[in-house]
Amino acid sequence: MNPILLKTTGLSLSFGGISACDGIDFELAEGERLAIVGQNGAGKTTFVNICTGYLKPSAGHVYLDGEDITGLSPRKITRRGVARSFQIPQIFTEHTVRECLLIAASARRDKLGFFRSIDRSVDVASVDETLKLVQLAERSHLQARLLPEGQRKLLDVAMALVLNPRLLIMDEPTSGVSSEEKHELMETLMKALSERKVTSIFVEHDFEIVERYATRIAAWISGKIAADGPPKKVLENPEVIRNVIGG
Ligand SMILES: Nc1ncnc2c1ncn2[C@@H]1O[C@H](COP(=O)(O)OP(=O)(O)O)[C@@H](O)[C@H]1O
Ligand SMILES: [Mg+2]
Repeated sequence: MNPILLKTTGLSLSFGGISACDGIDFELAEGERLAIVGQNGAGKTTFVNICTGYLKPSAGHVYLDGEDITGLSPRKITRRGVARSFQIPQIFTEHTVRECLLIAASARRDKLGFFRSIDRSVDVASVDETLKLVQLAERSHLQARLLPEGQRKLLDVAMALVLNPRLLIMDEPTSGVSSEEKHELMETLMKALSERKVTSIFVEHDFEIVERYATRIAAWISGKIAADGPPKKVLENPEVIRNVIGG
């Protein structure tokens, strides 16, 4: 097996009386493409938020390459090679597609974190290469707000990819996208990730997509991982059928 890239031990966080993350032990090896499935409220986003520094766990640890990154800021975790995209695209709608990538690339370099400023020393070649990679080059001068939803999601992922992550975590990359657009979006995304050799995690509700693109599935139920393994096996698991697929 490839080396372990991301690991969590006993990761926990509650909101009020609800255990959104309930002692999660998890490992992800380099090169995996993991789909996280689970009903709304199962704790998928909470897990992603803790791993990427947007939430601090009340207990447990997150390790990247064996180093403890628990509680580091999102910016610091990004610098260590973990990037993410969001369920609702965090794009700059009044800017062009290319400017969005330039701003995203600048944010990584900018130690003071000035918001929405473009650093002149940013690697323009890598921005343009990323635009090509996700097939948005022809739209690079279009205002982001004019993109159809599928391409907005693609742009959001591209803003994470331009940071050259080793691990990309995508929270529902296809939500809000029409079923016709979904497959094209996933094809483009997965091809881009393969070309860059990026390990990935994606949260997804569409089981057809999960089965087609994931090398492994982890099913979340009430803040816990109820099943984890090869896609076919997890999708046949009675608890998963009852609580996740049928639910
Ligand atoms: N910031 C928050 N404040 C209070 N409760 C929250 C917060 N974030 C998530 N929760 C609760 O934690 C549980 C898990 O939420 P979430 O991780 O968003 O689930 P999922 O992404 O699987 O839909 C839900 O019950 C949700 O209402
Ligand atoms: Mg969520």
